[in-house]
Amino acid sequence: MDGLSRRKMLMAGGAFGAAGALAAASPAGARSLWTWAPSASVAGTGEGLDPQWVWDDEVDRLMASVIDRGDVPRVNELLRTWTRNDQALPAGLPQDVHDFMEQARQLPSWADRGKLERAAAFNKSRGFYLNLLNGVGGGMLSTAIPREARSVYYSKGGADMEDRVAKTSLLGFAIGDLNAYRPDGDVIVHAVKTRMVHAAVRHLLPQSPGWTRTGDGQKIPISQADIMVTWHSLATYAMQKLVEWKVPVPDADAAAYLHVWQVTAHMLGVRDEYIPATWDAANSQSEQVLDPILASTREGVELTDILLGQLAEQTSPGGIDRPLVDALARFLVGDRVADMDGIPEEAFWGKVIATVWPKLIAFREKLIPLPLVPPLAWTIDEAARQYILFYLTKGRGTRIEIPDTNRPD
Ligand code: HEM
Repeated sequence: MDGLSRRKMLMAGGAFGAAGALAAASPAGARSLWTWAPSASVAGTGEGLDPQWVWDDEVDRLMASVIDRGDVPRVNELLRTWTRNDQALPAGLPQDVHDFMEQARQLPSWADRGKLERAAAFNKSRGFYLNLLNGVGGGMLSTAIPREARSVYYSKGGADMEDRVAKTSLLGFAIGDLNAYRPDGDVIVHAVKTRMVHAAVRHLLPQSPGWTRTGDGQKIPISQADIMVTWHSLATYAMQKLVEWKVPVPDADAAAYLHVWQVTAHMLGVRDEYIPATWDAANSQSEQVLDPILASTREGVELTDILLGQLAEQTSPGGIDRPLVDALARFLVGDRVADMDGIPEEAFWGKVIATVWPKLIAFREKLIPLPLVPPLAWTIDEAARQYILFYLTKGRGTRIEIPDTNRPD
């Protein structure tokens, strides 16, 4: 169904008909009514359609066609050679794919180079917190987001969670890179590829019996609302935690960090009318789209266990640190989400972390203004990031590729 006919369906049947179709299978009708105004977005204006009924029509049609005509292996092979923001697209891509990518790689007119540079500097000094919040915290939130947990579980990548985490980390880490949006960086590359992967998933998952059975009544996965839910579990959640932990964040840094995520949402195909213009607007959208839908699922609990097991293995190959990892995860996302994810309570480590954490922050914050500390801290964080990617891919490296099947049943 294209965008126009979806819109028609909404208008003709009225919101009630459409919402009814969804509510039939949605747990306790948990989704709130969409009232968030486009005036609070970077576009400042818009149609105000509920983003739950908006996908990414042009690329969705394109990827469905690429899959159906058997072009995925050829496109993936060529995409492997496209690695830098400023690089020309590989020769030999099908014309329609080439045309889409050429247009999709353009930054929005409102992208502000100065802010992107400032965000890079902010990521440099606060990489420790941001990696922890986006990596571990965001990961644990994502498994309590039923639609995300299930689509990840039943898609091709769900069968190999280590590789899947490494691939997702590629984009997360790229956003935090110093050269993220500079010509020699790679966020644009990863975001455009991810946009195509999501479109492929929209074509494939409806063919998965497992997903269809558990898919929350949704007929097509990864709506614009779903993407913003995940966006909040990364950007908004991280900023809320920094505030809660009293990490000093100057206003200009907060604005720059928001900006790098606004641009990234746009590059992932989110319409500007759904991208919050300010942190206040982000917080209110998050309250509306993220908070009410958090819930426990069998798939989410299983994925959480795999993810925390991996983290424990990374920090200590014998796996003895699992209780500590569980306590850290619980500390990061709070009891409500930890219970949904089935993360066990570790009373001893829980108390230790709650006591030590403010001291650790105070210690780090005292050190940061000293000369050479930011570059040194960055180097250590960077080494950890590279290690994580190397570990997760068993030294093979990884790349974002378009899937052409689902997880085998
Ligand atoms: C793939 C990031 C939102 C489901 C990917 C990939 C990245 C990524 C980097 C490529 C790596 C891979 O192939 O595994 C993001 C970001 C999001 C977002 C940054 C929002 C800010 C979502 C949402 C869903 C979702 C909302 C589902 C509700 C998937 C699935 C794949 C995927 C199923 C494909 C995995 C496979 O190949 O089997 N995403 N994603 N993503 N994403 Fe997302």
